Amino acid sequence: MFKRFRRLRINEKLRELVVETTLSTNDFIYPLFVREGRGIKNEVSSMPGVYQMSIDEILKECDELKKLGLYSIILFGIPEVKDSIGSDALSENGIIAKALKEIKKAHPDMFVVTDLCFCEFTDHGHCGILDIEHETVDNDKTLNILADQAIVHAKAGSDMIAPSGMMDGMISAIREGLDSEGFINTPIMSYSTKFASGYYGPFRDVAESAPSFGDRRSYQMNPANRREAINESLEDEKEGADILMVKPALAYMDIVRDIRERTLLPLAVYNVSGEYSMLKMAGKMGLIDYEKVMMETLTGFKRAGADIIITYHAKEAAKILKS
Ligand code: PBG
Ligand code: ZN
Repeated sequence: MFKRFRRLRINEKLRELVVETTLSTNDFIYPLFVREGRGIKNEVSSMPGVYQMSIDEILKECDELKKLGLYSIILFGIPEVKDSIGSDALSENGIIAKALKEIKKAHPDMFVVTDLCFCEFTDHGHCGILDIEHETVDNDKTLNILADQAIVHAKAGSDMIAPSGMMDGMISAIREGLDSEGFINTPIMSYSTKFASGYYGPFRDVAESAPSFGDRRSYQMNPANRREAINESLEDEKEGADILMVKPALAYMDIVRDIRERTLLPLAVYNVSGEYSMLKMAGKMGLIDYEKVMMETLTGFKRAGADIIITYHAKEAAKILKS
């Protein structure tokens, strides 16, 4: 009888020798939400284990992360004041600029990525300047302020800019802006294929960024479209993106594989808030073995072709990987 596969699985050491996909703390980027104030660490009810934190608490959190072997974070800001164009995001005294300066001062060894968008900063909750007539975002007007925002981030010490607004032409506009100010070495990780997804629900609670009217379907992608999904990422590669991304991750593993096979650039996935909360809540209810399902899910992203995983599970996964 042929029993080759069983022979390869029967010994634990041999199972390890033939393993095809491995996870490491080097794969993860951990999202952090920063807000004004001191001593603030508010847990978000829809995302147990995820907090809005003031800058001093973020600095302490970075110590924790480093102890776990996690050196990469992505920052989201919750400003004190919102307005129609998201001025806080364009100010050198805005929440992100201030947080960046303090994090890089206290933790020069952290790699700090900044999410670049306006939805957390506008009073209407959309990702840029409004086009009132069409009840959506004015793509081209938004490009100018996106470049300005990128320059504010770079000046404050951002190690990598991650534009998430899905505006057409955003990568070339941001690249030009950064280069013109001398930030030629600041990389851009584009949210290149981002779907209009229900999985962002809990994030909009944490980031207080739900749109006050309409939705994001005119600029984010239709989940039904595979060819367009590939094309969106390849377009950002042509414009000069250094790293591509698929978001959300779980329902779009096929797209991760499709893009992996068509680009030589590094590829990230964003394991989004709804994906995190589903596992959390199912674990809390005793429906699944949370840690097992989490590691299986993260391994799945890498198997599908991701090099980088942006995930709220990073700390829990790091603890398991260390043990
Ligand atoms: C902002 C942004 C969003 C997420 C990352 N950057 C929200 C959105 O597009 O509504 C979602 C992340 C998550 O759900 O964890 N443009
Ligand atoms: Zn946005």
